[in-house]
Amino acid sequence: MSAASSRQTSAPQAYLDGHQDFYGRDYIVTPDVLIPRPETEQVIDAVLNLAGKPYLPGVKPGPRRLPHNPIILDVGTGSGCIAITLAKELPAATVYATDISTAALKIAQKNAAIHSAPIRTVISDLLEKVNTTDMPTPDVLVANLPYVDPDWEWLDTAALSYEPDIALYADDHGLSLIKKLIDQAAALHIHYLVLEADPTQHRAIIKYASKKGLQHLETRWFILTFCTPQE
Ligand SMILES: C[S@@+](CC[C@H](N)C(=O)[O-])C[C@H]1O[C@@H](n2cnc3c(N)ncnc32)[C@H](O)[C@@H]1O
Repeated sequence: MSAASSRQTSAPQAYLDGHQDFYGRDYIVTPDVLIPRPETEQVIDAVLNLAGKPYLPGVKPGPRRLPHNPIILDVGTGSGCIAITLAKELPAATVYATDISTAALKIAQKNAAIHSAPIRTVISDLLEKVNTTDMPTPDVLVANLPYVDPDWEWLDTAALSYEPDIALYADDHGLSLIKKLIDQAAALHIHYLVLEADPTQHRAIIKYASKKGLQHLETRWFILTFCTPQE
């Protein structure tokens, strides 16, 4: 999420209105969830590109890398905007949506019902529930995890103060959860990872992922895509 939004003293308009657009669909938002951001829409483009599906007029998608009916897991789903969009855009996919916050997952379930999106919601701390009876190993993992470093000098803390801390902040210069997710995904040999992070963090994340055996495939604005080379 961009952290240098314009200064404001009252609650964000999306909380006052109770909803926010994401990828052309309307989502209920409450202070239990992050307000979906425009930069996160490129997570959807990155996954559609992996699926070999057109996502922007005039832009040819890459070769299809995912199966026709991929299993997708959205970690830290919040309002459910990523998981629901992917379920709608890729109807043959099975989409899981997890969050550590029960309150957030309830909003994701409401949004899924509004959009008739067949997502499967699971309470989970990162990937702890993957490979259990709750959830199989996904083909592709998508995650917009908390990555804000409270020490960033450009941070507009007043603007972010209305959103849940658990949705925003992470230790280790904002990288602790992303690094932990990379560790877990590498251990599970998950084929594709699509992660959002601030562009100032990308170099460190690519270096860390490479040490764990993940290959960087592409960067689009805030979004990094990795693959696990298969033996
Ligand atoms: C930046 S918000 C993203 C919300 C939504 N995916 C979006 O893009 O608008 C991060 C989400 O991760 C969740 N989260 C934080 N720590 C987590 C953890 N350890 N495991 C799973 N989810 C976590 C938060 O509750 C929050 O909903």
